[in-house]
Amino acid sequence: MASEPVNVNEFQELAKQVLPKMYYDFYTGGAEDQFTLKENVEAFRRITLRPRVLVDVSRIDMSTTVLGYKISAPIMIAPTSMHQLAHPEGEVATARAAAASNTIMILSYSSTCTVEEVASSCNAVRFFQLYVFKRRDISAQIVQRAEKNGYKAIVLTVDAPRLGRREADIKNKMISPQLKNFEGLISTELDCDEGSNLEAFVRAVYDDSLCWEDVIGWLKSITNLPILVKGILTHEDARKAVEVGVAGIVVSNHGARQLDYTPATISVLEEVLQAVGGKVPVLFDGGIRRGTDVFKALALGAQAVLVGRPVIYGLAANGEDGVRKVMKMLKDELELTMALSGCPSVKDITRSHVRTECGRLR
Ligand code: FNR
Repeated sequence: MASEPVNVNEFQELAKQVLPKMYYDFYTGGAEDQFTLKENVEAFRRITLRPRVLVDVSRIDMSTTVLGYKISAPIMIAPTSMHQLAHPEGEVATARAAAASNTIMILSYSSTCTVEEVASSCNAVRFFQLYVFKRRDISAQIVQRAEKNGYKAIVLTVDAPRLGRREADIKNKMISPQLKNFEGLISTELDCDEGSNLEAFVRAVYDDSLCWEDVIGWLKSITNLPILVKGILTHEDARKAVEVGVAGIVVSNHGARQLDYTPATISVLEEVLQAVGGKVPVLFDGGIRRGTDVFKALALGAQAVLVGRPVIYGLAANGEDGVRKVMKMLKDELELTMALSGCPSVKDITRSHVRTECGRLR
C-alpha cells in the first residue's frame, strides 16, 4: 500500500504484506467455514443509526469507567495471543500503546512477553486473561504473579475447553514458541506431525472439566482480584455468571475462532444485557472495525468494547506506533459519530440511536 492507511481495515493489508503467511493466517482466521467470522462484521452493517440534530456537540467527551478505572474512550484492547509473532517487541509494545491511548489492555494468558515484562514497561491499567490448565498449580501461580504485578482484574475465558478447528492453522501446521511465562513450568512447544501444534497443546494441557460451580469458587480462593468471564453468548449463561458472583461479563465468541455458527456477538448483546439486568458491567467484542461499530455496541448497552485483530494488524505494521494509530483511528471515528449523532457524552448514546430492523439483527 503506497499511502498511509486511513482506516483500520487498511492496516490489515499492511499486516498481510509484512507477516509470514502462517502467522497472518493465524491472526486473521476463524473456525471451520468462518460463517461467524463474516457475521461478526456483517451484522454491524445491518444496524443503522438514528442521529439527532441541533444538539450542542462543540465538546465531545468519550471518557468512561470500567470497574472504576477511568479510560479516555470505551475502547479497550482484547486479549490476543503471541504478539511477538507480529512484532519483536510483542505485548510490551501493545501495552505502551494502551498507556498512550489511556485505555485498558487485557494481557493474554498466551502472551509471548511475561506478565512482569509487560507490567514494568508501562503504566497502563492492565487486566489479565486466564485459561485454566489441568495443572491448576501453574494457573494459580500465574494469577498470583499477575496480582502481585498490579493487574487489576482476572478475565476468565470460558469458551475454550478445546481449541476451535481453524483450518488454515491445520494446513500451515501452525507452531507456537515456548511461552516465557511458563518457562520451567510446562513446555508449550509440542511435537506434532499432523495439523496444528496449538490444537494438540490445548487438548493436552487445558482443563476441559471446568464447571460454573467449581472454577469461580477456586479462583476466588486464590485471588482477591475481581473476576470477569469472557465468552458469554446466551441469557442462560449470563444469569449463571451473575449467580456465581462475577464482577463483569464479556459478550464474545472469541473472534469467531472457537465454535462456528454461533451468532454475531452484536446480535446477542441485548439478550445478555436483559438477563444481567444491570447487576454487573457487560463488555463486548467481535467485529469492531469502525467507530460506528463502537457506537452501535454502546447504544445496545455495552459498557465498553474490546478490539482484537485490528490491534495485531497495527502491531505487525508498525509496532507500538501502529497500535497507537489503530486506537486513535477508532477513537476519532467514534468521536465523529457521536458529534454527528447528537451525543456529546457516552451516556447520551441510547438504544434509540440505532435501528436494528425488526428481526434482521439476528
Ligand atoms: C484471540 N482471542 C483470544 N481470547 C482470549 O481470551 N485469549 C487469547 O489468548 C486469545 N487469543 C487470540 C488470538 C488471536 C489471533 C485472535 C484474533 C483472537 C479472542 C479475542 O480476545 C477477542 O475475543 C476477539 O479477537 C474479538 O474479535 P475481533 O476484534 O478480532 O473481531
